[in-house]
Amino acid sequence: MCGIVGYAGHRPAVPLVVEELHRLEYRGYDSSGVACVQQGRIRVVRAQGKLSQLEQLLSQQPPSTATTGMGHTRWATHGAPAVRNAHPHTSNDGTMALVHNGIIENYLEIKNDLQARGYVFHSDTDTEVLVNLIQECRKSEPDIQKAFAAALNMAHGAYAVCLMTESEPDVFYAARMSAPLILGVGTGENFVASDIPAFLPYTRRVVFLEDGEMVRVTCSSYEVRKIADLAPVQARVETIEWDVQAAQKSGYRHFMLKEIFEQPKVIRDGLTGRLSADRGGVTLHELDGLPVPSRLSIVACGTSSHAGMWGRHMLEALAEIPVQVEIASEYRYKEKLLFQPGEMVLVISQSGETADTLAALRRARECGATVLGLCNVVGSSIARESDAVLYTQAGPEISVASTKAMCSQMLLLALMSLYWGGRKGLVDSSKCSAMLGTLLSLPGMLEKALPEMHERAITLSRKYAQSRNFFYLGRGHCYPLALEGALKLKELSYIHAEGYASGEMKHGPIALIDSTFPTFAICLNDELLPKVKSNIVEVQARQGRVIAVTNAGVDVPAEDLWVVPDVPSTLAGFVVLPAVQLFSYEMADYLGKDVDQPRNLAKSVTVE
Ligand code: AGP
Repeated sequence: MCGIVGYAGHRPAVPLVVEELHRLEYRGYDSSGVACVQQGRIRVVRAQGKLSQLEQLLSQQPPSTATTGMGHTRWATHGAPAVRNAHPHTSNDGTMALVHNGIIENYLEIKNDLQARGYVFHSDTDTEVLVNLIQECRKSEPDIQKAFAAALNMAHGAYAVCLMTESEPDVFYAARMSAPLILGVGTGENFVASDIPAFLPYTRRVVFLEDGEMVRVTCSSYEVRKIADLAPVQARVETIEWDVQAAQKSGYRHFMLKEIFEQPKVIRDGLTGRLSADRGGVTLHELDGLPVPSRLSIVACGTSSHAGMWGRHMLEALAEIPVQVEIASEYRYKEKLLFQPGEMVLVISQSGETADTLAALRRARECGATVLGLCNVVGSSIARESDAVLYTQAGPEISVASTKAMCSQMLLLALMSLYWGGRKGLVDSSKCSAMLGTLLSLPGMLEKALPEMHERAITLSRKYAQSRNFFYLGRGHCYPLALEGALKLKELSYIHAEGYASGEMKHGPIALIDSTFPTFAICLNDELLPKVKSNIVEVQARQGRVIAVTNAGVDVPAEDLWVVPDVPSTLAGFVVLPAVQLFSYEMADYLGKDVDQPRNLAKSVTVE
């Protein structure tokens, strides 16, 4: 997620803005920049890489005396990480600068229109389009605030923006739609930022701007208005009690918990710009130039391989593409990699830097395969070396244990299944819109269910905290979720856990079951329910204790039931996933483990 800061006050703006950006570094970024008005001209300084590079550039120039400024840290979505794509972006006439967090869905359409009017663009970003749209709007509406509002009303999508113009050096404008932006109300100074930590050392008094609101800010005033009609809004000032560290986690105890609760937003963001206007189809322009694969090898590690295993069910059911899922560390050393005509490889990696997965990609390409990448980090090695790459746009995942990334990977795999199924004529618009309807309903459903699921995880983790072993059982599309649940419990609480296909228990592992070896069974209201129930009975017959994740009204013989919302079966994984994540999170936190930095683990395993 990009970070935005704006300042109007009595202090030198540029160093303060850079200091604020430092407090947003936890959000992850790949470039940064600042803007102010100096001697009547917009002045912009931008750098790729860390803020130290920006500071280096600033130190080589005369210090600015401006007391109003803004800054940005960029987490690349449109356009690779590069100076030309770093914010702030300026209008063609050089009189305005804009920083932006979010995605303007219709930016290409606006860009084409502006190019036809003679505008030129130097970046690949939607942000540069927006600032030039404001310039175009000022031709018919010289008032900056009105022109700003007019342009925003033409832009569709998510944005948090900050605008400065050379004609008002001591003013900045800001606006938000589906991306966070908070006003900090100081004494003789005012701030905006994407997140509270940026200005918390200067003021604890904040105004949470709402979607569709904009604000004009000076050192001594702020006026909040509706973007739609510039109607004034009565702003409510609140006081923040958190410290900076807590604020970076938005008040959650750990980044992991914050990222689990970000999954509704991840689904919403992942769907943005990928559905056809009538929602009867999926648009994945990254794949338009490639044939539909005749067969697919999905190659990944750890949590990403579990996402691939879940995606296999969707790809085979909806697109009838035979899929095999391979562990990258095994795949890269296979005797032979044999590819039939039309076969492709899909590598899945949140970080895009996992050594085994990167090596597998390179080996597959050497053997002549077309390789697709599914990554979260724009411009990562795997993204750059894939023939085509899809970005999950989950935002940076800070906690070492991967949570929201898997959710975003599953979402993209579902969209790829619908997309390829549509191209093969196997998924018609009514079937596609039914599934998209369910996907679109997930964020609201999860936002409602997550707090209750969290409470259930707290209760059950305390009850089973003394267990030293756990089985996780699942069948069909829930088998990968059983594997993920076991991995999460292992890597966070250091309790031994095995994920197993429920039907496999009787082929040996059941010998382990006794009253000290509990089982976490995923037992949803689907066609495999009777089979899973009989597996649960087998476990209980050996004094095994069972936690069953199930749906309301399902009669399951278990010591503890965990009822989750009922979702059409192939997409039920989106509600089971947070359940297993929350259980392992609460178990680890209760046992006093280092939840965000578990022992022996690295966020990106860049070694063999
Ligand atoms: C995630 O909880 C794990 N720590 C780990 O298995 C991770 O999923 C794996 O290393 C793959 O990482 P990647 O998605 O960045 O390639």
